[in-house]
Amino acid sequence: MNFTKIAIIGGGNLGSAIARGILSLEGITNKNLVICEKRKLRIKYLEDLGFSTVDTDIKKAIHNAEMIIVSVKPQQFASVLEELKPILQSDQILVSTATGINLTDISNTLGKQPIVRIMPNTAIEIKESMTCICFRNTTKEQEEKTLALFEQLGKTIILQEDLLDAVTVLGACGIAFALRFIRAATQGGIEIGFSAEISEYIVSQTVKGAAQLLHENNSHPEAEIDKVTTPQGITISGLNEMEHQGFSSSVIKGLITSYNKLIAMEKNNY
Ligand SMILES: NC(=O)c1ccc[n+]([C@@H]2O[C@H](COP(=O)([O-])OP(=O)(O)OC[C@H]3O[C@@H](n4cnc5c(N)ncnc54)[C@H](OP(=O)(O)O)[C@@H]3O)[C@@H](O)[C@H]2O)c1
Repeated sequence: MNFTKIAIIGGGNLGSAIARGILSLEGITNKNLVICEKRKLRIKYLEDLGFSTVDTDIKKAIHNAEMIIVSVKPQQFASVLEELKPILQSDQILVSTATGINLTDISNTLGKQPIVRIMPNTAIEIKESMTCICFRNTTKEQEEKTLALFEQLGKTIILQEDLLDAVTVLGACGIAFALRFIRAATQGGIEIGFSAEISEYIVSQTVKGAAQLLHENNSHPEAEIDKVTTPQGITISGLNEMEHQGFSSSVIKGLITSYNKLIAMEKNNY
């Protein structure tokens, strides 16, 4: 890793997933990473996992940190920012994972501080995140260092900020949508003869393989589907029945419902 110290404020679901990913990078020890978390039980859990922690002493947590990742709930974000504002060094990079808090909101509080907004997903813990990134007030060097870090933790795209809500749904909620498909297919597998364990093993490896085919062949899903669908064969019969039951339509409607809800929550300040 190219940072000597990173502090993560908020060791919840996402903060701890980011921490696990970073700690698994080569040459990283818990001297390079500290998690600031306010829940006592959570601190114990994080310490048991081998992380170095600080309780609510944010000043201690960010001391000498080149990057500070704030990963608290959107409604907690403003108070953390107010706490950070008087103690941040001008070259410390402030990274926000908070859904719906835009760069302008952050720079209204922090002024010229280098700010990065990221939208990763929980697969960051196994270095397979899809992390979308936008920058504000950052130097080229800070951007390159930040990108290099997140590229080690999965795939990255630099996006215009107005797409971050959409990517929250597609990439971050998307983990849950993909997992629900895996669960459904696993249940189908049990009906046709497998134990739950073997069924899930087969389905999850099959989904992983399908995703990798797209990445490695740089192909369209339908092109890969065509290779599996023999005329009058079993695959096309199953696929068409799924479509008759509304498969694609329900996925699209689910995405749009999540997106509309996110926009409504942002309008009402959560
Ligand atoms: N989970 C995801 O997959 C995901 C993906 C992309 C983006 N996000 C965004 O990332 C952020 C974090 O999400 P999450 O799911 O990890 O939330 P979470 O599980 O609620 O984690 C936040 C943690 O930060 C703690 N905390 C709050 N204020 C603190 C402070 N001042 N100092 C130290 N710790 C503090 C919270 O404690 P308390 O619970 O006691 O308040 C909680 O343990 C959210 O803004 C979310 O929208 C999440």
